[in-house]
Amino acid sequence: MPIYANQPFFPEEDIAEINAGISEILRGGRLTQGPQVDRFETEFAAFCGSRHAVAVNSGTAALEILLRYHQLDGGEVIVPTNTFLASANAVIFAGGRPVLADIHPETLCLDPRDLRRRITPQTRGVILVHIAGLITPHLEEIRGLCRQHGLFLIEDAAHAHGASRNGRMAGNLCDGGAFSFYPTKPMTTGEGGMITTNDEAVANFARSLRCHGIAIGAENRGDNKNLLMRLGHNWRMSEIQALVGRVQLKRFPEALAARRRVGEWYQAFLQTIGGVSPFSIPDGTLHSFYKYPVLLSPPLTRENIGRELRAEHQVQTGSIYWPPCHLQPFYREAMYCPGDFPVAEDILSRTLALPIYPTLSREEVELVCQALQIALHQQVTI
Ligand SMILES: Cc1ncc(COP(=O)(O)O)c(C=O)c1O
Repeated sequence: MPIYANQPFFPEEDIAEINAGISEILRGGRLTQGPQVDRFETEFAAFCGSRHAVAVNSGTAALEILLRYHQLDGGEVIVPTNTFLASANAVIFAGGRPVLADIHPETLCLDPRDLRRRITPQTRGVILVHIAGLITPHLEEIRGLCRQHGLFLIEDAAHAHGASRNGRMAGNLCDGGAFSFYPTKPMTTGEGGMITTNDEAVANFARSLRCHGIAIGAENRGDNKNLLMRLGHNWRMSEIQALVGRVQLKRFPEALAARRRVGEWYQAFLQTIGGVSPFSIPDGTLHSFYKYPVLLSPPLTRENIGRELRAEHQVQTGSIYWPPCHLQPFYREAMYCPGDFPVAEDILSRTLALPIYPTLSREEVELVCQALQIALHQQVTI
């Protein structure tokens, strides 16, 4: 049996609850944007400690809505090159220009020194991505820099459900958070996303925009339903997605504890293997362990070791992220060249994401580490 890089977590008890809930939704006849969505939003806001949560149908939509609130109008938004393309694309869809920045080699997150260099009079804001589920210890410095320059700071928390920094949860650290519930994420609704914010104006704007720009407050009422006040989209979440999200959220403390346990097993096993090191977790940061990245020593590369693990040991691994945004064909052709972000290119080409999910057993973690040790040895002796 292969060991997969990630797996969603649905114990039988939860599958039964979801099946029963789906029957109820179908009998009730309200299939989208109804009571399940309302409850999911209330529960998710409480989970993050934020005043509002607004459910949408993807993490990309959550990002675009938060960005559209700021009316970019051609302005620049700084985004780390190490992220899934959606973070940068959302800036373009919202009418802005993404300006990529390099990463810090110890966190894989935005480097505050490079961020400082890229701020111009055209800069409107910054997207901070909690890569792999780690909230950077530079958060306070980055937040201070944004305040100093009058910039908004949006959290791309697509990886960071349940992560926290100094007791504050991801999604509640800056001017708004965007979560994804894509199937690989720490919790899933199949497809889906959530905006978290403490600002009522942002929440109202999001509720309007996700439903074709409907008048604020008209979503669940008959009156004003046909008045579209701004250019919106269909970014609604369905009742079935929200039901799945609620069951996942209830199960989440157990899922997160299991992920953290897997992280501890890796930490212990990897100590005995040369040529590879885990990334350390800064004081005050609680990790979501969405991914478990490790750094390979040169000349080892993610590609070689990943290929060997898959072909010889049936162990699937991932990247976080390779290629980084600036080397993706679209950005490379339009704006950037190889060599533009030297830290990202060096570190990410040597960063391998090991399998991690709640049901991964200690024996499987040991197998992965043994396979890794063999693959490393073979590459070194080639
Ligand atoms: C960092 C990051 N941002 C944004 C997204 C977009 O989320 P979604 O796939 O739900 O649109 C993802 C998900 O894949 C992601 O990993």
